[in-house]
This record gives sequence, structure tokens and C-alpha cells, in this order.
Amino acid sequence: MAGILVLAALIFAFICSATEIATAHGSCTLLSHILSPNQVLFPSDESYAQVNDRWSLTAQLEPSCIVLPTSAQEVASVLKVLVSRSTMFAVKSKGHKPITGFNNINSGVTIDLSWINETSLAEDRSFVRLGSGAAWVDAYRKLNSQGVSFPGGRCSTTGVGGLTLGGGISFYSANVGFVADNVLNFEVVLASGKIINANRDHNSDLFMALKGGSSNFGIVTRFDVRAFEDYGRIFGGGVFSKATTDTTSQSLNGVYDFVKQNHKDEDAALATIFNYNATGKYILNSMVYTKPVAIPAIFKLKFPFLTSRMT
Ligand SMILES: Cc1cc2nc3c(=O)[nH]c(=O)nc-3n(C[C@H](O)[C@H](O)[C@H](O)COP(=O)(O)OP(=O)(O)OC[C@H]3O[C@@H](n4cnc5c(N)ncnc54)[C@H](O)[C@@H]3O)c2cc1C
Ligand SMILES: *[C@@H]1O[C@H](CO)[C@@H](O)[C@H](O)[C@H]1NC(C)=O
Ligand SMILES: *[C@@H]1O[C@H](CO)[C@@H](O)[C@H](O)[C@H]1NC(C)=O
Repeated sequence: MAGILVLAALIFAFICSATEIATAHGSCTLLSHILSPNQVLFPSDESYAQVNDRWSLTAQLEPSCIVLPTSAQEVASVLKVLVSRSTMFAVKSKGHKPITGFNNINSGVTIDLSWINETSLAEDRSFVRLGSGAAWVDAYRKLNSQGVSFPGGRCSTTGVGGLTLGGGISFYSANVGFVADNVLNFEVVLASGKIINANRDHNSDLFMALKGGSSNFGIVTRFDVRAFEDYGRIFGGGVFSKATTDTTSQSLNGVYDFVKQNHKDEDAALATIFNYNATGKYILNSMVYTKPVAIPAIFKLKFPFLTSRMT
């Protein structure tokens, strides 16, 4: 009996996935008629592999096609096709989430937002508009000359969309909280294809839900993030050390003391990373001060083996 059930389940799973593949293929063909040919990539296309590339191999799946919309209106058109045909799909901004199935899909459609990447400063300089598919480095580079700063990713290649919808820790976190705390408005495409804004006054429940809601409530195409005058330069760098019992406990004590004092000096940010490289275990202490102060006192606390090298 158990054997028959297992067999039935296997056949069922096979039929399901065969149906999903057929549905996805049909939707891909429809989408390629709605959008320009270079906006729908099939596995046989030359650029498919490059666009499907991910920061982590764990996220590298094989979608039936990759769709590259360039506007909220195009995202809406894509969603209408996928929803009406019950096609499985994934949403990707810069694809840095390593969890399998979060930003990619097998036998379905991947909506890749990396062509929705415009960034600009509001006329009154109080916020920046960030397209979901921009990498933080591109947003920083473009707005660097404007004399403003804004909270965003600490690693240049991560994406605006995934990081902000997941909360987002920046070098300014002690000062201004999560990146999501600084969002003033989300432009969102709902499952119905309707394009709306979510902010304090309009759709305020969705506004709250999106601050940490990831992909569960709609596809966000633009984030308006609070900006502030910057101080021209910041101080920062990373110090690597071999992970020994001594350096490990020194680093952990350093983190403890840093966190205890961070509220007194909110311009400081510390990330302590334990990792492996080709020669063994190492520790990376990445320290950033968001004002132009070299080796501020807070970093001299419990990092003797580091400060000796930070002169
Ligand atoms: C090297 C590295 C450094 C990192 N550094 C930091 C850091 O300093 N601070 C920090 O907070 N995090 C950091 N992270 C974690 C990072 O924030 C997440 O991996 C985040 O998901 C990356 O954003 P992305 O746009 O590249 O993600 P993606 O993988 O594209 O998306 C992540 C998730 O969000 C969903 N999603 C993305 N965009 C949208 C959208 N517009 N609408 C709806 N759903 C969407 C996706 O479906 C997926 O489930 C780091 C990750 C890596 C790999
Ligand atoms: C940004 O978007 C444009 C189209 O809107 C695209 O041509 C360009 O390649 C995108 N940049 C990146 C880094 O993906
Ligand atoms: C690994 O990290 C250690 C400690 O910082 C460093 O000395 C070594 O050169 C690194 N090895 C490689 C291959 O990067």
C-alpha cells in the first residue's frame, strides 16, 4: 500500500511539474509578444546564462524564461499574464539572497528587476528615488556628487530591493535605524496589476507591512528613501586576522564593548565576520565611521591587534 502511495505521489509530482513547465512556456511565449524580444530570455539565448548568474550557486536555478521589465507599467503587464495563467514566478532585484527559490525558480518565470535601476535626488533634497533593481554601488556613485547620503547596503553589489524589503543594515544604522525605517514611499505593483503608492497617508497598512515584508505583498518598483546632508568623507576599512582562540575572544569582547557604547557614538559601525579562506579560518573586522575622523576612540576599545595596524 505504502509503495502504491509513493508511486502515486511520484506520478502526481511528475504531472504537476510537467503542467507547470507547459504553463510557464506558454506564458513566456505570450510575454515575448508583449515586451521587446531582448526583454524575455530563454535558456537558448546567449545572454540567459549571464543574467541568470547569482552571487551564490544555491540560487542558480533554471527558469523557463527571464523577464526584464523596465517600468512599473511593464511589471504590471507581466503580472497580469502570470496571474491569469497561474504561472509560478520568482522576483529578483540583484539576486544576493542565497536561499534556494527566493529569487529564482525552476520551471517558472523569473522577473528580473535589474533594468528598473534609475536613481535620482528629489528636488527639495529630502529623499532619493531608488529603482528596485539598482545595485547600491550604482546608487552611491550616481548621487555621490550631490552632497547627500542615505542608508543602504554595506556591500556594493547587493540590491536596493531585497535589502530594503528585508530590513537592511547600513553604516548609519545606529543613527537612523534599518534602511526600511527610512523609506517614505514604496511604489508597488499588486497581484492585480494595479500600481499604487504605499506611504504614511496612503495604503499605510501596506506601508508598514513592506518594512520587512520581503516579497510577500507585491512587487516594489521604486523606493523613496530619506536623505541627509553628508560630511564629505567617511573613515573605514577592514582588518583581517587569522582566527585563533585569542583573536576570536578579543573580537567577540570587542563586539560586546562596541555595542555597549554605540548609542554614545552613533556614527560608528562595526561588522565582525568569521569566515574561511583557502588557508583556514579568519576574522574580518570591518569598521566604518560616517564622519571624517581617523581611528575614532570607539574602535580603540578592545581591538589591540587591529588598532596597531590602523594608523
Ligand atoms: C555579500 C553580501 C553582503 C551583504 N551585506 C548586507 C548588509 O550590509 N546589510 C544588509 O542588511 N544585508 C546585507 N546582505 C543581505 C542582503 O540584504 C540580502 O541578501 C538581500 O536580499 C539582497 O538584496 P538583493 O536585491 O540583491 O536580493 P534578491 O536576492 O534579488 O531578493 C531577495 C528577496 O527579496 C525579494 N525581492 C527583491 N526585490 C523585490 C521587489 N522589488 N519586490 C518584491 N520582492 C522583492 C526577492 O523575491 C527575494 O525573495 C548581504 C548579502 C551578501 C550576499
Ligand atoms: C539599468 O537599466 C537599463 C535599462 O533600463 C539597462 O540598459 C542597464 O543595463 C541596467 N544596468 C544594469 C547594471 O543592469
Ligand atoms: C587568509 O586569511 C589570512 C588572515 O588574514 C591571511 O593571512 C591569508 O593571506 C589569507 N589567505 C588567502 C588565500 O586569502
